[in-house]
Amino acid sequence: MYNFEFKNPVKILFGKGQIAKIAAELPRDKKILLTYGGGSIFKNGIYDQVKAATQGLDIIEFGGIEPNPHYETLMQAVELVKKEGVDYLLSVGGGSVLDGTKFIAAAALYEGDDPWDICAKRSQVKVEKAIPIGAVITLPATGSEMNGNSVINRVATQEKLAFDSPAVMPQFSVLDPEVIFSLPDRQVANGIVDAFIHVIEQYLTFPVNSPLQDRFAEGILHTLIEEGPKVLANRNDYESAANFMWSATMALNGLIGMGVPQDWATHMIGHELTAYHGIDHARTLAIVLPGIMHIRRKEKQAKLLQYGERIWNITEGTVDERIDLAIAKTIAFFESVAIKTTLPDYDVPAETVTRIANRFEQRGFKVGEKADIGPKEIQHILENRL
Ligand code: NZQ
Ligand code: ZN
Repeated sequence: MYNFEFKNPVKILFGKGQIAKIAAELPRDKKILLTYGGGSIFKNGIYDQVKAATQGLDIIEFGGIEPNPHYETLMQAVELVKKEGVDYLLSVGGGSVLDGTKFIAAAALYEGDDPWDICAKRSQVKVEKAIPIGAVITLPATGSEMNGNSVINRVATQEKLAFDSPAVMPQFSVLDPEVIFSLPDRQVANGIVDAFIHVIEQYLTFPVNSPLQDRFAEGILHTLIEEGPKVLANRNDYESAANFMWSATMALNGLIGMGVPQDWATHMIGHELTAYHGIDHARTLAIVLPGIMHIRRKEKQAKLLQYGERIWNITEGTVDERIDLAIAKTIAFFESVAIKTTLPDYDVPAETVTRIANRFEQRGFKVGEKADIGPKEIQHILENRL
């Protein structure tokens, strides 16, 4: 196992009725900006619960943060924060609203010339300061509620880029599984697949003798495989919703990635598919991952065999047969929740493959657990998905 440092200060309020408790977590002497998305919180009663819980607090609102939050929209919120002297942010929404709120929190206190550099020059710009954030998460998927990551879309340049900082980790996050009751099938399926692949990014690499992390990871994968379809079948199944929600948070709150190599190539390539074609985040991952498993079968052989055996009970056949079956089982799982896995399924033209490979060429860095996946490999991975 590798050396590591681990600190996760996010306070979790988990379970039904927890939104009612947020006033105790929010400052009475600060001006709070409540951020939200396209209006789902008005239809499902979450907004009313938040309003009832925060009576008497000094709160203004900013809505309209899009799925795959737009830099252009978030900069309007930054203006508002500066004009109104906002000094606390309360995010009420899915991963996009929370990621967007993290960007607002960092950009409002950014001292450089161009706040886009927070994402575009991620390796040089360290976000040390941010407005404090509290969160009510309404969609289990991203883990954003318990991490310091944020992914932002810049529409004008068709870029989707991330940043991360401990400064933007929420001070608290409410995880009330009842928020799932109003989610459409499409978003539940996205959440299952996104969380599944977050685990895979931290697990399906190469062995470093980390049996505890491996079993944490396998435990989350098994729970998603068992509980996810139950949530899809019955949206009011509170127990399954609770188990699904906690799995999604645990998949990306840092714990399972400690002391082990991490991949993230599926995400890095997937982000380009969202940037160019607007495909839902989870669906881009479901397209790319089988290609990575196929093209990187040698480099990932030991973990692919372990994954096949421990997750899908694959114990017989040659190495290649077992890996092929593990890939087929993974695809079948995604398709069982109605998530398609090839580029033509989303009408992505073949030219996009070269376009994405060229973009990595221009950026000049490689991805994957050994940082050895460059434009050529990306071309092969995506060609496998045509
Ligand atoms: O905008 P509203 O009206 O609220 O509707 C949203 C949106 O249309 C709706 N929704 C959310 N909660 C709902 C609901 N509808 C009914 N009932 C509810 N309770 O769902 C739609 C999608 O919401 P969004 O926030 O975009 O989904 P998700 O949580 O999957 O977030 C995706 C974004 O997170 C990023 C992705 O790249 C993408 O931009 N990620 C963030 C990560 C992180 N911070 O660690 C890691 C992930 O890998 C991911 O990259
Ligand atoms: Zn993801």
